[in-house]
Amino acid sequence: MLVEVVPTYDAMSDRALEIVATQLREKPDSVIGFATGSTPAGLYSRLVDEHRGGRLDFAQVTTFNLDEYVGLPPDHAQSYHHFMWSHLFAHINVDPSRVHIPGGTADGIDETCRRFEEAIEQAGGIDLQVLGIGANGHLAFNEPGSSLGSRTRPKPLTESTIRDNARLFDDPEEVPRHAITMGIGTIMDARQLLLLASGEGKANAMHATLEGPITAMVPATIVQLHPHAHVIVDDAAASNLEYKHHHGIMEPYGRRLV
Ligand code: F6R
Repeated sequence: MLVEVVPTYDAMSDRALEIVATQLREKPDSVIGFATGSTPAGLYSRLVDEHRGGRLDFAQVTTFNLDEYVGLPPDHAQSYHHFMWSHLFAHINVDPSRVHIPGGTADGIDETCRRFEEAIEQAGGIDLQVLGIGANGHLAFNEPGSSLGSRTRPKPLTESTIRDNARLFDDPEEVPRHAITMGIGTIMDARQLLLLASGEGKANAMHATLEGPITAMVPATIVQLHPHAHVIVDDAAASNLEYKHHHGIMEPYGRRLV
């Protein structure tokens, strides 16, 4: 695991861009796993800028997203489909037929999950998976207690997530109660992980993830077992780390992802 501590959210996003751009330049037909949320938004706007500047080409790229609410139409403002298209896909030259975001309705959901796993396999597996982390240590919608070997499946949302989300919906009936999510086992199959964390709200989760025991109660701790996990945290998210040797770790070694 390579842990890098950088001063700010912008520095984290710049560094994440370098890693994703290197991957795409070295392998133009890369399979990239994307996350939604505020953490990777800075990376996505940078990817758009690189593309607009003619420096990044997505024509051959295949994408898989981590998760989606069940029952929300793709064009709903709170759907992860909407997030990905408005932040990234609509602004780059990705082939829409190569974009995979799980989701759909509760009917046939097991089949949807099975097909999603199959599509990852058919694409040759995920080369680089971008990840955020929840304040409780969740990865994708794998909340504490999720099986560390799990595959793509439907998961009930926790009461606190449902409560938090309620403010984003005009109609309480619309608030999703389930999500479909890549499993921890699916995420761990990616050839490289890029875990990003920013802000004080993630400090406890990052301490547990990097310095605690591996446990299903903090699903992100599983990244300790991944052979190519690259973790980029800003100072605030690193503020509870006991070991400070991560700071500046890249300087003596150059900037290549190992
Ligand atoms: C989203 C996802 C979630 C988020 C996490 C952090 O696809 O998988 O696990 O990465 O909830 O969200 P933000 O980045 O909004 O703090």
